[in-house]
Amino acid sequence: MHTVNVKVLMASTMCSPTQCYRYKDKITIITGGSSGIGRGCVEVFVKHGSKVVFCSNAPEEGRAVEAEMNKIGECYFIPCDVTQEKEIENVVQQTVEKYGRIDCLINNAGIHPPSLPIDEFSGDGFRKLLDINVVGYFLFAKHALPYLRKTAGNIINTSSLVAQMAQSMAVTYVATKGAITAFTKALAIDEAKYNVRVNSFSPGNVWTPLWEHFLKDYSETDRKKIEDDGKNASVLGRFGTPEECGLTCLYLAADATFCTGVDINLSGGAELGYGIKAANALV
Ligand SMILES: NC(=O)c1ccc[n+]([C@@H]2O[C@H](COP(=O)([O-])OP(=O)(O)OC[C@H]3O[C@@H](n4cnc5c(N)ncnc54)[C@H](O)[C@@H]3O)[C@@H](O)[C@H]2O)c1
Repeated sequence: MHTVNVKVLMASTMCSPTQCYRYKDKITIITGGSSGIGRGCVEVFVKHGSKVVFCSNAPEEGRAVEAEMNKIGECYFIPCDVTQEKEIENVVQQTVEKYGRIDCLINNAGIHPPSLPIDEFSGDGFRKLLDINVVGYFLFAKHALPYLRKTAGNIINTSSLVAQMAQSMAVTYVATKGAITAFTKALAIDEAKYNVRVNSFSPGNVWTPLWEHFLKDYSETDRKKIEDDGKNASVLGRFGTPEECGLTCLYLAADATFCTGVDINLSGGAELGYGIKAANALV
């Protein structure tokens, strides 16, 4: 039986008259932090007093976010392609050299290929996607864990609602997200003995540059329809925001000290109720 001092595991909340810091002085690494959901996580964690090291394969964008966030708190951008293990090790090493510890890793960098039937996806394309969306998460976890074990820290993996519900014309992407939800649960079992928690969250439709990129090849009318469908896919009738993703991660990191192996849906209820799904009824 473990004896755990829960007070030690909980992040101390420090409040001034104008601001509550829920992750004060904790050291967080966020991958894919230069855009969209990752950027939302950087902003929320910085605002709550965490010192954030974030990385992505978009250095210009990353430096711009770094400059903006350093006006409200402390963060540090390191360019890194998550398909390159040496670059991942560099992010972890630089974090430890700068701050001496790691409390939280948010694995988030990922891509969504264009919609295609299975006949048009290639084995090579799928392998490259696995490298970014799955192996990158695995390698970051592997290299950060020796430090996370020292702090009873935690890992948060960005999965997707499609891991549960699937998505048409996206077999390879859906497979990578299914892998992340399963990877999270398996790692949670192994790391429990070190009091390291491993959780994931599953966004439904969150408005980010990933969506803008996805829509860019459609006509204006089609874009409007896809955007409206994206909103109406949830019972709340809107897209989620990167800030809401950041707040979900903050909850998992700072407050959810008895949660491990958990996957939180962040979907506006997109998975609720029946819909018209039969292929012959959708024409
Ligand atoms: N937006 C959504 O509706 C949605 C829904 C479910 C899950 N997700 C997941 O959320 C995560 C973030 O998506 P987003 O919508 O914010 O997308 P985004 O395109 O806005 O951001 C992706 C980030 O990952 C980085 N990145 C991509 N490839 C990389 C690589 N090889 N090495 C390092 N960094 C890399 C990009 O530079 C960027 O910073 C992804 O894992 C995505 O699958 C998004």
